[in-house]
Amino acid sequence: MIILGIESSCDETAAAIVERGRIIRSQVVASQISVHSPYGGVVPELASRKHVEAIIPVIDKAVRESGCSLDEIDAIGVTCGPGLVGSLLVGIAAAKAIAYALDKPLIPVNHLEGHLWAAFLGGDPPSGPSVCLVVSGGHTALYFVKPGEPPQLLGTTLDDAAGEAFDKVAKLLGLGYPGGVVIDRLSEQGNPQAVSFPRSFLGRDSFDFSFSGIKTAVVNFVKKFGSPLDSSKEILPYRVEDVVASFQEAIVDVLLEKTTMAAERKGVRHVAVVGGVAANRRLRERFTERAMEKGWDLRLPPLAFCTDNAVMIAAAAYEVWKREGFCRDLFSVDALSRWY
Ligand code: KG4
Ligand code: ZN
Repeated sequence: MIILGIESSCDETAAAIVERGRIIRSQVVASQISVHSPYGGVVPELASRKHVEAIIPVIDKAVRESGCSLDEIDAIGVTCGPGLVGSLLVGIAAAKAIAYALDKPLIPVNHLEGHLWAAFLGGDPPSGPSVCLVVSGGHTALYFVKPGEPPQLLGTTLDDAAGEAFDKVAKLLGLGYPGGVVIDRLSEQGNPQAVSFPRSFLGRDSFDFSFSGIKTAVVNFVKKFGSPLDSSKEILPYRVEDVVASFQEAIVDVLLEKTTMAAERKGVRHVAVVGGVAANRRLRERFTERAMEKGWDLRLPPLAFCTDNAVMIAAAAYEVWKREGFCRDLFSVDALSRWY
């Protein structure tokens, strides 16, 4: 079973050809970082336009580099949501056109389920139920996953996603985009205990998240002490490295404690952390330590598959096909800004 995966839900146009959900024949990602960088975040209208320019060259390149012809591809897996509707529609239109022209089946894929399968690419998926934290620029959610079943949502963010908080704080401090990468790097030279930023747990029983409080705390911190960007204010009494390391530590604390609580309540020993923020060095370190304490089978995707890519979409499409078969009605496939 050879699947062409297509991803265009946010600011990466990606295509990949993957055999039996595991063997990567090719992978291409066209990033729009330089387009959105001046704005400190993704501008949806610009993202859609860039996807339109990139989608055909990216698919062409993935097909060429795979050594397969389009005829040898058994199905097309495409991200249908959640994501930016204008961006999703570009990938979906391309996928439908190829499926229709070549009479190939289409498999609609949930982007978050795609992230989840990135964690299982390197080996066998967990044999039993698992708890999965999806933590990216657009999403922060905990899922309970039973093999062969769609993931069940346990909790999600009520406001900002964790990656969004990284991006907004980096913008506020004038550190560049995407913020998570810069904060991760600077934090290596910082003291994570230097500033005590708030941790929002939303009550002992909640699996939901909220990151707007910590973002506001950084805004207030900058108002009080001045930003490294604004020379008219006082100079920060703290090093920027210490401020971002403390911010990062507060975010990781919340993600780690909520995931631990979910694993304990659900009585599982398989835990996965996926999405762009799963590339964070401190997050990987703290989750790895916790896994050793608790005896978890912890899965973290390789760094290249944490952020958006199409390998994970082709891998998830293979699982969706095993579970649900092909989508019979091509015209029913549409973009969904929200999905489980
Ligand atoms: O999964 P992804 O590519 O896109 C979405 O589905 O949203 O995630 C992008 C997000 C951005 O917010 C970026 O700042 C964050 O992941 N990110 C990181 C790191 N690398 C990327 N956050 C923290 N530490 C990192 N090393
Ligand atoms: Zn993503």
